[in-house]
Amino acid sequence: MTNLNSSRYHEVHAQSLADPEGFWGEAARDIDWIEPATKVFDPSMGLYGRWFVGGVLNTCYNALDRHVAGGRADQVALIHDSPLANSSGRSSVTKFTYAQMLHEVQMLGAVMQDHGVGKGDRVILYMPMVPEAMIAMLACARIGAVHSVVFGGFAAKELATRIEDAKPKLIFSASCGLEPGRIVQYKPLLDEAINLSGVKPDACIILQRPPHGCGLVAGRDHDWAELRSKAIAAKKAAACVPVLATDPLYILYTSGTTGKPKGVVRDNGGHAVALKWSMYNLYGITPGEVFWCGSDIGWVVGHSYIIYAPLFHGATSIMYEGKPIGTPDAGAFWRVIAEHKAVALFTAPTAFRAIRKEDPDGSFIRKYDLSKFRTLFLAGERADPPTVDWAEKQLKVPVIDHWWQTETGWCIAGNPVGLGQLPVKHGSPTVPMPGYKVEVVDEAAKPLPAGTMGSIVIKLPMPPACLPTLWEQDERCKEAYFNEFPGYYKTSDAGYLDEDGYVYVMGRTDDIINVAGHRLSTGGMEEILASHPDVAECAVLGIKDTIKGEVPCGFLVLKAGVERPVAEIEKEVVALVREKLGPVAAFKLAIAVGRLPKTRSGKILRGTIKKIADGEDWAMPATIEDPKVLDEIGTALKGRV
Ligand code: COA
Ligand code: AMP
Repeated sequence: MTNLNSSRYHEVHAQSLADPEGFWGEAARDIDWIEPATKVFDPSMGLYGRWFVGGVLNTCYNALDRHVAGGRADQVALIHDSPLANSSGRSSVTKFTYAQMLHEVQMLGAVMQDHGVGKGDRVILYMPMVPEAMIAMLACARIGAVHSVVFGGFAAKELATRIEDAKPKLIFSASCGLEPGRIVQYKPLLDEAINLSGVKPDACIILQRPPHGCGLVAGRDHDWAELRSKAIAAKKAAACVPVLATDPLYILYTSGTTGKPKGVVRDNGGHAVALKWSMYNLYGITPGEVFWCGSDIGWVVGHSYIIYAPLFHGATSIMYEGKPIGTPDAGAFWRVIAEHKAVALFTAPTAFRAIRKEDPDGSFIRKYDLSKFRTLFLAGERADPPTVDWAEKQLKVPVIDHWWQTETGWCIAGNPVGLGQLPVKHGSPTVPMPGYKVEVVDEAAKPLPAGTMGSIVIKLPMPPACLPTLWEQDERCKEAYFNEFPGYYKTSDAGYLDEDGYVYVMGRTDDIINVAGHRLSTGGMEEILASHPDVAECAVLGIKDTIKGEVPCGFLVLKAGVERPVAEIEKEVVALVREKLGPVAAFKLAIAVGRLPKTRSGKILRGTIKKIADGEDWAMPATIEDPKVLDEIGTALKGRV
């Protein structure tokens, strides 16, 4: 057994489970409340109980106003660093103090109110990684509106689905986003999405961003800078609108097992309490320090650790519009850490695989002063041991993997640096955080012994910040998470616990794949492939990729009588996924085959196809209808993967 005694973790975790109300009630003291909760946890409310019932607060107040009032007015709240926004080769850096950020947020909040947006109204953001995105998210929180950020790498149809579901009064967008060697024009995608959607927003506020401006639709679109100038002239400022702890702060859509995404709801109170708690106890950050989360605001990690948690804590947050490599080189991350004196970086393992490939000896690392840098945190996908090992050797700081889901809003299992770091075991994101009782069960919900793989479940109730429900879909939420294992939340991840209680997360039990830390549904991609007029049948699965972890690969069976060149159809299918789902899917490989391997009951043998594609050992499934099909698949894959 590992000696785990020097950390406070075990005592703290045990207390959180023995007395959840006492534990989280105490943590809630670090948040400013307008009215404290009448009940820390009410098991009779919601799908599994609700946190901080009766509590009244404002999330934006806790992120900004209280720090300005408390002596941090001149401290930098946000550093925006964009190697893509400056063609001179230097990075473009813009800083906002807490006072400046508050001023911008107050103004934009007032502009939104002028557009009729109030408490409970939904607002969609479809934006690149610019400070205005943070300003808009906080302005929503300030006036009690519910934001829903849609990742810029999603195509118009995905945005349309989210508009239909969230029914926003207002949409924030920009003329363009920047990707290496490519300007992403957001406006045509926004216009197409609004056309496709049965629900139309009352107004759109558009940031005209160099190098590419865009036309505005008369009567619907408004120029962001113009509205800002007018608001400054009129000295407009929105006050904080009190909301209930249980009111929604945001909706974040994530891939479901069908093409229709799930709108994960986040509340105000539990979110603020859990995230504030995490900043010191989990990440070891003290107020005033610089914290860098290298995700995108379109993902949960970006919501929690670029926008909210660092500001709840009075830290300085970095928003980075660039890549780990190529902007301009594999030293990009070390340049940002050194220049802004970041004490911690939180990113996905895929970024490190990309850096390692370009700079295996870590020569870029030694060009920068990383003396302030204390900890590297990884999440979003399994941190493969060789990558962790390389990062530890090169950086000579602790490398902490931690396990997350959009649904939970913060980490489920991690290594709490602030409570006292536990020994790192490569391949494990360490131990459950306070409030999470993680178990591994078989199909009959029977607990499995240490070391045995099964479904990972969390005993209800979930801790604060976790989803109370899916947006206007309680039944779908129950079906997706609570029905299969009564009394538990189903993570849809498979793995095991070891004898020290360390969690090992090995893969999903559903059709979700993880591409460069991005969560995607293969079922959703299959729906797109099947919509091609020449495709009779298809299967999409994730195959191994040395950088992105997994990439999707589509197998197509063409309709009888199709005589067009197969390569042409394969190309069309690839383009179709990019057009309908977006470039983020990284769907570059479609292979036409004569037939798909199936069981005698007609189920496609995706697991076996994947093993063949990954070059792993595989056994002939006993239930296969025709074993010869697998040889055909092997032949079709030759030279393609
Ligand atoms: N808007 C528009 N397009 C976007 C986009 C955005 N916000 N973000 C990504 N894309 C596009 C990219 O341009 C790329 O398009 P391409 O096919 O034309 O090249 C595609 O979507 C895939 O992007 P990405 O996943 O970023 O891959 P990449 O090949 O550009 O870079 C890595 C590879 C490993 C460097 C990159 O994936 C990375 O840094 N990952 C870290 C992931 C992360 O932090 N995840 C958050 C979870 S914690
Ligand atoms: P998302 O909701 O996009 O954050 O993706 C959540 C999924 O990513 C989880 O269900 C896991 O499958 C995977 N994941 C996230 N972090 C980790 C991790 N540290 N180790 C293993 N898998 C992870």
